[in-house]
Amino acid sequence: MGERERLEAIQRAVDGHTTGVLEARRPQASWDCLELGAGAGSIAYWLAGRCPDGRTVAVDRNTAHLDPARAANLAVVQADITADDFEPGRFDLVHARYVFCHLANRRELVTRALTWLKPGGWLVVEDPYHLPAETSPFPVVRRIMAAYQQHYRDLGSDITWARGLPAVFARAGLADVDYAGLLGRMGGPGDRWAELIRRAAPDLVAAGTVTADDLAEFEALRTDPAFLDIPQITVCAWGRSQPGG
Ligand SMILES: C[S@@+](CC[C@H](N)C(=O)[O-])C[C@H]1O[C@@H](n2cnc3c(N)ncnc32)[C@H](O)[C@@H]1O
Repeated sequence: MGERERLEAIQRAVDGHTTGVLEARRPQASWDCLELGAGAGSIAYWLAGRCPDGRTVAVDRNTAHLDPARAANLAVVQADITADDFEPGRFDLVHARYVFCHLANRRELVTRALTWLKPGGWLVVEDPYHLPAETSPFPVVRRIMAAYQQHYRDLGSDITWARGLPAVFARAGLADVDYAGLLGRMGGPGDRWAELIRRAAPDLVAAGTVTADDLAEFEALRTDPAFLDIPQITVCAWGRSQPGG
């Protein structure tokens, strides 16, 4: 499975929840929106359509999966959000999903993202909170998720920082801070985890944390109607920059 398929699997699993949260922020047709780490673009395209009189900027360090022709009011920008800056006070909405947790300066990024907002503009950040692998009811899932979580820790990701997002937002001075969660689904309808595990499998096998037998056992388990598990929770936090600026 390639990167595009991975990004599309994420979109299929989470877009409904994300657009619900964004819709509840009552976007106006004139809003300018910034989508950080836009991936394969579904949320940037949604924002461009939802705010047709404003401009949506979709940023990613890898823009190969983004199509600037999708909307006349959409700009695709290749940038590294840990280093590159955007126009201060420019955006009504800044959104990032499954990006900050992977970046070393994630807390500082919340502060920087605030500077890109207009007074009263919304910051919405979503990241995963992984449940302890050893609490899975399925032994093979315990082994595979322990390896998967270690893989991301080794890459510098923090797969539990999402729990603190509301507090990070409040401490950064955001107003109207609130949050919601989406339970991950492994097994059964709506499972996106088989695709994510397949994608990570070569790295996990190379690291020696998972065996080919583990992966075969996992695939076999997927045919069991009782295979239903919750590997993580997506925490979605939002808040607005102080209306007075
Ligand atoms: C897990 S994907 C999530 C994509 C999309 N936000 C979604 O949820 O569908 C993370 C995305 O962030 C991008 N990314 C990671 N680090 C970045 C950085 N420093 N600057 C810009 N984009 C980055 C990756 O290229 C990738 O497209």
